[in-house]
Amino acid sequence: MNKFKNLIYKKNKSKIVCLTAYSKNIASILDNHCDIILVGDSLGSVLYNFKSTRNVSLDMMIEHSKSVRMGVNNSIMVVDMPHNTYRNNSEALKNAKKIILETKCDAVKLEGGKKIINIVKHLIKNKIPVQGHLGVLPQSQKGKFRFKGKKLSERIKILNDAKLLEQAGVFSIVLECVETSLAKTITRELMIPTIGIGSSSNCDGQVLVTDDLIGLNPINVRFVKKYLNITKYINSAIVNFKNDVQKKKFPQKKNSY
Ligand code: KIV
Repeated sequence: MNKFKNLIYKKNKSKIVCLTAYSKNIASILDNHCDIILVGDSLGSVLYNFKSTRNVSLDMMIEHSKSVRMGVNNSIMVVDMPHNTYRNNSEALKNAKKIILETKCDAVKLEGGKKIINIVKHLIKNKIPVQGHLGVLPQSQKGKFRFKGKKLSERIKILNDAKLLEQAGVFSIVLECVETSLAKTITRELMIPTIGIGSSSNCDGQVLVTDDLIGLNPINVRFVKKYLNITKYINSAIVNFKNDVQKKKFPQKKNSY
């Protein structure tokens, strides 16, 4: 069974695990555990301190993805198409092909529903596997962050967008900060899996930014659970190194040529 069919087969059987990676070493740890490894454009805020993911370039995504690829053997590797790289069919196809060719990833992810549906169809017609992304859309987010699905009109729109994306042929949809009962309805109505972030356990799988869950990125939002304070461990290793250097305990003979 191919990787995508295998993923869709998991719906209603076992939960799908997805995490982000921006480089090889983290990717190779995740690869033993994740169904999907996402090179998210969240790297703009997590690694580069950008105010928004809109400043992430195609070259940045490609360079990080090349590194990630070296650590991925089993999982489906998805790369975010950054802002302003899929404004029309030809631009989207040219850039998606470049991403796939240069990074050897399995699929690309695009944010949006009806507005980009012809672009999604065009990519899929040209054999580019696509993951959808609905709910909070960081690339087009203006103003304050707010979860999606409070107003009826918004709920209807997101559900319709999800159905349109499924009909267009995406293999799964990320639901970012979608209200619990709406996430449940979308997940029930679709044949393809939904991957939630801040969208409740009703989704078929979950995604988080790895740097958030290991406590490397100092973020405090409701949808993140911190499983580790890795900063504490790095800190203590650095203090030990510093002390050893200052007390001339490192390097020893065995560390020298
Ligand atoms: O950019 C990203 O990391 C994402 C996930 C948070 C879903 O899109």
